[in-house]
Amino acid sequence: MRRNLVVGNWKMHGSRAANAQLLGGLKEAGPWNADVAVCVPFPYIAETALALTGTAMVFGAQDCSSHEQGAYTGEVSSAMLQDIGCRYVIVGHSERRAYHAESDQLVADKAKAALAHGVTPIVCVGETRAEREAGQTEAVVKRQLATVIHTLGHCCGEMVVAYEPVWAIGTGLTATPEQAQSVHAVLRAQLMAATDRASVMRILYGGSVKPDNAAELFRQPDIDGGLIGGAALKAADFAAICRAAAQ
Ligand code: 13P
Repeated sequence: MRRNLVVGNWKMHGSRAANAQLLGGLKEAGPWNADVAVCVPFPYIAETALALTGTAMVFGAQDCSSHEQGAYTGEVSSAMLQDIGCRYVIVGHSERRAYHAESDQLVADKAKAALAHGVTPIVCVGETRAEREAGQTEAVVKRQLATVIHTLGHCCGEMVVAYEPVWAIGTGLTATPEQAQSVHAVLRAQLMAATDRASVMRILYGGSVKPDNAAELFRQPDIDGGLIGGAALKAADFAAICRAAAQ
């Protein structure tokens, strides 16, 4: 059986004071019978690491460089993330694909760099509303995932995949459990053809996951947890989602 994983993606939110309150609330509410992680802005990783010491929660980053090291001003390498204890790094979030022009290949290269340093990449895929309305959902997510599978080779079984329909992110529109499950099944089948680890890999759903819809989403056979944006910023909401994921 796959153990559910719930990841909070704080995006560009937080402050030292707000983070302390949020993490304090989570520490009081946990632990849960599920894997739980928070992916926080770079400046707060070290303090998050301290705050989570002695808990079952782990932490990660929201992006990394595809480069090993060197003259790349402003970039953060996966070796650095490993050095400070990050367990996960989100790569290919639709906000980075859209606002920072990240290509499928760049996303795949970032995932490869992360794995090379023992940081598990959470690779995001998802279609826009226009692509869904044009009936291209399957083709889009398969193309995005295929580049990563090709680039990682046999290591692709080590990643976490997150299906995040762009139209559901931060909009309050959630994919129905059936809509999400059908895309997750497509992704699982694609992974099955690539790695014998496909049946143990986690495929997360992200896009307006809230305490009141989480349980039904997580009940779907190929949904193995969530990548949570807005609701990850409130301890009570994130804790309720972690409870819904507990098995
Ligand atoms: P929301 O949960 O705010 O819709 O964000 C989802 C997301 O983008 C997580 O990475």
